[in-house]
Amino acid sequence: AKYLPENVDPNLCTHLIYAFAIVNYANNIASSEWNDVTLYSTFNALKNRNPHLITLLSVRDQDSNQFSIMLSNWTNRQTFIKSSIEFLRKYNFDGLDLDWEFKGTSETHLEEKLKFTLLCKELLEAFLAEGQSNKDARLILTATVSAQKEVIERSYNIPEISQYLDFISVKTFDFHTFKDGIARHHSPLYSGIQDEEDINSNTDSALKFWRFQGAPPEKLLMGFATYGRSFILTSSQSGVGAPANNLASPGPYTQEMGLWSYFEICLFLNGGVVQWIEDQKVPFSIKGSDWVGFDNLRSFEIKIKYLQEHGFGGAFVWALDLDDFSGYFCGQGNYPLVNHLKKWLMLGKSCINLCEFLNAYTWLHVEHL
Ligand SMILES: *[C@@H]1O[C@H](CO)[C@@H](O)[C@H](O)[C@H]1NC(C)=O
Repeated sequence: AKYLPENVDPNLCTHLIYAFAIVNYANNIASSEWNDVTLYSTFNALKNRNPHLITLLSVRDQDSNQFSIMLSNWTNRQTFIKSSIEFLRKYNFDGLDLDWEFKGTSETHLEEKLKFTLLCKELLEAFLAEGQSNKDARLILTATVSAQKEVIERSYNIPEISQYLDFISVKTFDFHTFKDGIARHHSPLYSGIQDEEDINSNTDSALKFWRFQGAPPEKLLMGFATYGRSFILTSSQSGVGAPANNLASPGPYTQEMGLWSYFEICLFLNGGVVQWIEDQKVPFSIKGSDWVGFDNLRSFEIKIKYLQEHGFGGAFVWALDLDDFSGYFCGQGNYPLVNHLKKWLMLGKSCINLCEFLNAYTWLHVEHL
């Protein structure tokens, strides 16, 4: 289950995103893992094997407040922008992805929303200027954004940032956690009967919200999860909405409570039954007191048809490392989910398939070896 950039198939996705870089105390963009700089070079060398491949570096707020400090004034933002251009060019990335949502107190959200809008504007201006002076293609600017209505409302000026960003990847997953007290699918296409008071926590509502607030549909990418969220049931009930009070045990390889990769779900399903949530168009499974909601070939296909019918720009996948990339566990060939996505996207008009490579599992497995 170890996964490194050289394992990435350079022909699966139109864009690859390397996750994550951070903002450091000097307001510069910086790497976050000890081996990132080495991996940047193997990651970007994938372009030698597919000349059309576009690579992006994603930057997010690590637990510190440094992203907000960087946003807070023009000087700090300019420092960040200048360092980003140098960093991206130095390591041969083609663009920058901003993975951001507002996490502070509600009093400051309007101010920070404005500052984030300014960052997008100033980044695009700087990328345009650099592209002209450099004769290289200009750097691409994208954002990975929340799919939760309340978070969207307090974080983004949608009509304005949509003008500056080349794509907007909407995280249409992780809608539910065990804290809800019931077992629910984390990435449903539609709301279900158990969602009476929560009709916005689904893919369809989130994408429509972004669109009706002013994002051009062709810039919006639907998030596809190659993992499931698992819970522990607390009663004999086991359907959607059954009481659940905790995250299930970690998967044997990814070692994270309540989050199982698709290849670990294949292990779990061995001998188990896949059930279908008809109103939400996604599968789940149960074994003992473990309940897992995940995506499979069938739900991916329905979601792709949905995105094509609605004229959205394409798909974005979290994450390559979590699909059955080797084909070893699921018996469906390598990258069954992402290959399925590629096949269906190429049949339709949507052709953007933006995939994230998360450098987190590499060190985990190195330590476990
Ligand atoms: C910008 O914020 C920094 C704190 O990060 C502060 O030291 C600096 O004085 C501020 N600059 C301006 C022009 O407000």
